[in-house]
Amino acid sequence: MKEIVDQLAEKRAAAALGGGQARIDKQHERGKLTARERIELLLDEGSFEEWDTFVEHRCTDFGMEENKVLGDGVVIGYGTINGRMVFVYSQDFTVFGGSLSETHAEKICKVMDQAMKVGAPIIGLNDSGGARIQEGVVSLGGYAEVFQRNMLASGVVPQISLVMGPCAGGAVYSPAMTDFIFMVKDTSYMFVTGPDVVKTVTHEEVTAEDLGGAVTHSTISGVCDRAYENDVEALQMVRRFINYLPSNNREKAPYRPTPDPAERMEMSLDTLVPDNPNKPYDIKEAIHKIVDDNEFMELQPEHAKNIVIGFARMEGNPVGIVANQPLVQAGCLDIKSSIKAGRFVRFCDAFNIPIVTLVDVPGFMPGTAQEYGGIIKHGAKLLFAYAEATVPKVTVITRKAYGGAYDVMASKHLRGDVNLAWPSAEIAVMGPKGAVEIIFRKYSGDEGKIAERTEEYRQKFANPFIAASRGYIDDVIAPHATRKRICRSLAMLREKKLDNPWRKHDNIPL
Ligand code: HXC
Repeated sequence: MKEIVDQLAEKRAAAALGGGQARIDKQHERGKLTARERIELLLDEGSFEEWDTFVEHRCTDFGMEENKVLGDGVVIGYGTINGRMVFVYSQDFTVFGGSLSETHAEKICKVMDQAMKVGAPIIGLNDSGGARIQEGVVSLGGYAEVFQRNMLASGVVPQISLVMGPCAGGAVYSPAMTDFIFMVKDTSYMFVTGPDVVKTVTHEEVTAEDLGGAVTHSTISGVCDRAYENDVEALQMVRRFINYLPSNNREKAPYRPTPDPAERMEMSLDTLVPDNPNKPYDIKEAIHKIVDDNEFMELQPEHAKNIVIGFARMEGNPVGIVANQPLVQAGCLDIKSSIKAGRFVRFCDAFNIPIVTLVDVPGFMPGTAQEYGGIIKHGAKLLFAYAEATVPKVTVITRKAYGGAYDVMASKHLRGDVNLAWPSAEIAVMGPKGAVEIIFRKYSGDEGKIAERTEEYRQKFANPFIAASRGYIDDVIAPHATRKRICRSLAMLREKKLDNPWRKHDNIPL
């Protein structure tokens, strides 16, 4: 027996070496950790249970039968993060460049299936050269098996992708189907076709970093939710991030006690909104002051900055925050911000996370770029997402809520549960100047009359009281009491039940 046990230990040690010490050293030289080192940092110490350590590929072409590595380039299993169960796969770049073979795909599918059975999140650590070239279509089939499971798991258990190395070709589509993507700066890339193919087809010369690096995807494309400096930071942030999420769609997000009193007054909010309605202010200041312990985990902070999204807690319970940002494009809604916030609202709704919306929006962004780009359809995504959401929705209008954007931003009419406004709120079809220029076109050129009518319009509409008189706003509140009022609203809504009518699925304007 002892002999067999020793053999087992030897086999495990061989598997742990993956593609060998030289390739591990190369991985380290690049500033990357190995697949197993990453898992160790991600999970609670000693909690990892590995499966399929002894799986080998079945390929017999190109001399592959002589070239087998235990585990076949991916480490899978389960463990805990802060005591909560998660399932993990971690691709091992030292084994055939982490490329995906038939067996590699089977291993990933195995943890995905198990995560679905027990209702626990799936975290994928991606570091792969894509389809295992030697296996051809079998590898493509493997990818599709993973994609199918990504779809089935969507909205059932949270799926998180860390991209920690190359991620090329169709390989990007599994992360793309997951809920969140985090990347590592300088070492990770995501693109459908790499720089060489780009050059051949479009004659563009672009580096891998510019084409699909973490900075590109966290700023321009919005594909990635956060970009981190290195593997260690990314893994630690995912440990923090997952604390905001429930394990599955039948649970509530985890409660964490806080010393921050729910009734805390924040007097500085009374002076946050400038007297001049055209002067910007930073909505993130309001967010930090309202939420528990000033802690706000922002997502996509560098992309579509005219809207702010992320997780925080109110009285210990996770909430999703959506807020227009007056500092950027006056907080206008455009294509990118609508997509960014729409997807976030849908995630929160799928996973029982209440949504707190802070509104200061002058409207949708005008212009040919937006219209040609399809702002009608893309803006409708956010509208659809809010209208569809059945989780508790608490809305605070801090200043402007004009036009269609008033409707979109979790208004009462879209089943907003509690809709509050600061006294500085301006709720109307459009801003006073634009409105007067249209309805008093006859005074065009007569600056005195225009100014007079503008002031009249401002007095009449640029306030929250007409909306409040209709009950569209439940109350006009002092800014300093915002935290208290939101906490009370969310407490009242804790057992909220609301269902949409039965259907196969809705048809959100994609
Ligand atoms: C098999 C692969 C591989 C692959 C890399 N390797 N990619 N083996 N299949 N797809 C192996 C290399 O042979 C090498 O083995 C080791 O991994 C490291 O690769 P290097 O090229 O030396 O590393 P590096 O210089 O860092 O370049 C990494 C890379 C490059 C950018 C990922 O390897 C690359 O471009 N690979 C091919 C990418 C690709 O085109 N994949 C197919 C995409 S299409 P040794 O033994 O020398 O260490 C696709 C379809 C999916 O994925 C469709 C789903 C819908």
